[in-house]
Amino acid sequence: MSDYDLIVRGGTLVTASESFAADIAVKDGRIAALGKELGSAGRIIDAGGLLVLPGGVDAHCHVEQESSTRIWTADDFYSGSVSAAFGGTTTFLPFAAQHRGQSLRDVVKDAQERCAPKAVIDYAFHLIISDPTAQVLGQELPALIQDGYTSFKVYMTYDQLKIDDRQILDVLCVARDHGAVTMIHAENNDVISWISERLLERGHGAPKYHAVSHPRIAESEATSRAIQLARLVDTKLLIVHVSAPEAADAILAARNAGLKIYGETCPQYLFLTAEDLDRQGMEGAKFCCSPPPRDEAGQAAIWRGLKNGTFQVFSSDHAPYRMDESGKLKHGPKANFKQIANGVPGLELRLPLLFSEGVGKGRLTVNEFVALTSANPARIYGLHPRKGSLAVGADADLALWDPAWQRRVTYDLLHDNAGYTPYEGMTLTGWPRFVISRGRVIVEEEALQAERGSGLFLDRTPEIEAAGHREPELDPARNFGAELL
Ligand code: URP
Ligand code: ZN
Ligand code: ZN
Repeated sequence: MSDYDLIVRGGTLVTASESFAADIAVKDGRIAALGKELGSAGRIIDAGGLLVLPGGVDAHCHVEQESSTRIWTADDFYSGSVSAAFGGTTTFLPFAAQHRGQSLRDVVKDAQERCAPKAVIDYAFHLIISDPTAQVLGQELPALIQDGYTSFKVYMTYDQLKIDDRQILDVLCVARDHGAVTMIHAENNDVISWISERLLERGHGAPKYHAVSHPRIAESEATSRAIQLARLVDTKLLIVHVSAPEAADAILAARNAGLKIYGETCPQYLFLTAEDLDRQGMEGAKFCCSPPPRDEAGQAAIWRGLKNGTFQVFSSDHAPYRMDESGKLKHGPKANFKQIANGVPGLELRLPLLFSEGVGKGRLTVNEFVALTSANPARIYGLHPRKGSLAVGADADLALWDPAWQRRVTYDLLHDNAGYTPYEGMTLTGWPRFVISRGRVIVEEEALQAERGSGLFLDRTPEIEAAGHREPELDPARNFGAELL
């Protein structure tokens, strides 16, 4: 009889704060011991020369989701989770998205029923709230938060999803009072639609005009406004998929002022530019996402933000649409930029891209890499310490990372169903050799070992800040106590 189910021996363990040589012993899916000479195990994996990372946590991905214009993502929960696993991600948080008129409860039930039989990695759901009725705000949302759905996204743009400032304040207050986190897509919808109409009137419909119609000002104005709304009611807010340097500046200023503001960015803002939308024919449609990629100076600002504390979370915002009538080109091969489905794939390459170009090129330490891709999202979204750490008692979710493994990215290498990758042709150094989820080896030497439906739903606990004892007035710009609201 062995002491443990699995021992990972001889690797360098990397957490968000330190790196050290140790073995990891796993029993019943959890980390049971860290150290040397740990004993016997049913299986021993030699991790010599490898980094032992907590499995990635992708806190922003659209999987088996119907967009606001009623287009289904190319990935379902099986292909999406398999693709995530091959890239070293062992937990993901897709969205259960409400379309107007729908009950949130029904939306969650549907997402659960679809995901449970398919996911090969563990999962939790963020909600998308597009219809904050009295019933949703007063009953469904508080009850769902209690049931473990402790984060939700709201939109300031997209005609069928956006809510107004007043509704945002309502949602923020529910999050504050019941211990949830609000995420926000911050772009000024009127600015975008005003520019878009003018461009289309003048015959400018090509994909590159998507970037023109989503200027940095639209993003930075909305980001600043969203921050002030969260400040008004004294609650947490996470600004997702930040691309504009001015938006990043607003987040950093808010954080430096002590506000509970968090920032997220994504690979497309480090590795793509608006020029990619100007590729020949409809090729540019592959790169249409919102906010759009910016320019090289913008990329540099986003890299700085990963280093200087602007961003706590690095997510994929995986939103896969195929280049055909099922996806990007629902409106035909000559669709204008307003008709092209928004989003780019990235679940599988999120970690390899940031490791290769961040850690490998000296822009980030390996500990910062773990913080951004695993530990911080786990903390912010209520999954810590079960996920995102290498502590005894945590789930044994590990990516055994070969920092020297060099591969050229081609779509054939990947496991999603988008049909293309925006990162085609890049050479990346650093990939996972083994991926382990709750002690089960799910990817080993480029082969999937996990069974369909073997991922688990992760129940989360609302985080009430000292319930009933919220701080009295602290912020002089708010000339009343937010606790009155
Ligand atoms: O273009 C994007 N990002 N599509 C996905 C939906 C969203 O707003 O995150
Ligand atoms: Zn968004
Ligand atoms: Zn998104």
